[in-house]
Amino acid sequence: MRQMVYCFFVLMMFAINVVAQDSHSYANPSAVRVRHVDLDCDVLFDQKILKGATTLTIERTSQTEPLLLDTRDLKIERVETSVDGLKYTPATFTVGTNDKILGAPLTIPLPARATHVRIHYSTSPGASGLQWLDPAQTAGKKDPFMFTQSQAIHARSWIPLQDTPAVRVTYNARIRTPRNLLAVMSAENDARTPLDGDYSFRMRQPIPSYLIALAVGDLRFRSLGPRTGVYAEPQVIDRAARELSDTERMVVATERLYGPYRWGRYDILVLPPSFPFGGMENPRLTFATPTILAGDKSLVSLIAHELAHSWSGNLVTNATWRDFWLNEGFTVYLERRIQEAVYGRARAAMEAALGLRDLQEELDTLEDRDEILHVDLKGRDPDEGFTDVPYEKGALFLLHLEQTFGRARFDRFLRSYFDHFAFQSITTEQFLAYLKQNLLDRYPAQAAQVPVDEWIYKAGLPAVAPKPTSAAFARVEEQAKRWLRGEIPATQIPAARWTTQERLHLLKFVQSALEPPPSAGGPADASATQLNQTERTRLMGELDRALNLTSSGNSEIAFQWLLMSIQNKYEPAYPRLEEFLLSVGRRKFIRPLYQELAKTPEGAERALAIYRRARPTYHPIAVTSIDQDLKWSGQ
Ligand code: BES
Ligand code: ZN
Repeated sequence: MRQMVYCFFVLMMFAINVVAQDSHSYANPSAVRVRHVDLDCDVLFDQKILKGATTLTIERTSQTEPLLLDTRDLKIERVETSVDGLKYTPATFTVGTNDKILGAPLTIPLPARATHVRIHYSTSPGASGLQWLDPAQTAGKKDPFMFTQSQAIHARSWIPLQDTPAVRVTYNARIRTPRNLLAVMSAENDARTPLDGDYSFRMRQPIPSYLIALAVGDLRFRSLGPRTGVYAEPQVIDRAARELSDTERMVVATERLYGPYRWGRYDILVLPPSFPFGGMENPRLTFATPTILAGDKSLVSLIAHELAHSWSGNLVTNATWRDFWLNEGFTVYLERRIQEAVYGRARAAMEAALGLRDLQEELDTLEDRDEILHVDLKGRDPDEGFTDVPYEKGALFLLHLEQTFGRARFDRFLRSYFDHFAFQSITTEQFLAYLKQNLLDRYPAQAAQVPVDEWIYKAGLPAVAPKPTSAAFARVEEQAKRWLRGEIPATQIPAARWTTQERLHLLKFVQSALEPPPSAGGPADASATQLNQTERTRLMGELDRALNLTSSGNSEIAFQWLLMSIQNKYEPAYPRLEEFLLSVGRRKFIRPLYQELAKTPEGAERALAIYRRARPTYHPIAVTSIDQDLKWSGQ
């Protein structure tokens, strides 16, 4: 009997450990937990490194275990510990072997009663979480620029810390830069601080390490509302302020739905074009790509998305990268609700329909294990495991809950969920337990219609998954069909009156008509298979001239068009394709273009020729992905 109890105990401990263990971190927070980070460093543009010291305040439940930190390519000079945070004494440390994905553990044995650990170090010029831009890569062309990107596991390449989203810290920072440049962080920024090259920051709310962020450059600030504003280079700031002028309205709309915005200010930093993502939800200061500056506010759903993370992600955080869908699925759902509140239902419906099609296309290419919301990323680089599944399948799951339980009830549920888990990091299992208790068990008749386990643990989409449609898109398809049947010329497609989303739908619809059906080798039925190259080129040219696609300044339209141009061998767009790949570093755009080029031998050659020139301007995160795709070996 005693043995059985013991067995049960061991099994329980094992289960708890499995739940709490983050396979992408070496840290041991259950024994030693970092509570506060104090960063003090110089930004050395000439050497492309940060150099300084990080002081960690720790809390211990074990008096014997060492502190285990995550690092990647850091040069550790020396380590000190302190029992009072005042007097520091030298300490020993060891840097373990480097893992390609995880980096190297830094082990620091702790003397009795130690409460503070200080690490003197510098970063390496190739740090995965930093990008150093030459003046030529900025709008101003005069000054260099640097920025961090810590999500998912890149904070460890510029700060030695417990780099797991399960650990939350407050932080202070003192950053020294060249005198004329401004430093901004995901913390309290003072827009009127004197430009003296010495900047101090404070983040009082506990946040996970992937949200620690820093950028340095020739930056200006413009206010957008009482607690909203934008930073950008002087050449971009006016355009940015005009494009983002609805930001305050978005904050108000989100508060109405999900409760108070708890971070004080909400500012946006518009980065140079090499920023590898569309946006990054760094608290108090969203980082954004300049490719959303379309001139007509048509791409600002990205701001709705990053703002929504102030609730889903930054307030309630995924505890491990397996639980990433808790961040992104919730955020896409919130993003569409914000869109609906600010721009109306038609616009939100279009975005949802575009999202569903992207998801369906991706599901056609994914292995089963990557179609699961509670995805197993063990042994894999989390940057590579990210697909539309956590985003769009996650959002569809929440939409299904909304539709089943009713919007009023579901809104109340979500609001109480954000309150209940505010400033905590949670697992999928914790969410499911809360869902069961606060929604499913209260309304069993409705709950019976939601196959929760299938949504979370199975590949593909459940048969009951909602299928968002857009009435506007149906009208777009009518026009496209008339043109494809030769009933009207392309100039009569009323695209000038359409939104960007309708035009995007037109392009995707036309592409699906031009593309041979996926069942290659099967009987050729659709007219598309009979289209020869001359016909294809004629149709593409006609559409191009009618809608000015090759010269479009809207990045989403340009991307979709360039992708189609490769697929249809439409050569007049090739110079624009090259220019696009040489000037934009957003991975979502450039990676598919290179992948599409690489499908034919001539294309692969062109891809390599362009990549050879563009690669030095891309971010390490984009380079890692595209190196693999193109089997780049350093030619
Ligand atoms: N947090 C993500 C960006 C991210 C995810 C960075 C994973 C590193 C690892 C951000 O909120 C995001 O989802 N950005 C999207 C835009 C959004 C509108 C879907 C992007 O960058 O494309
Ligand atoms: Zn996101």
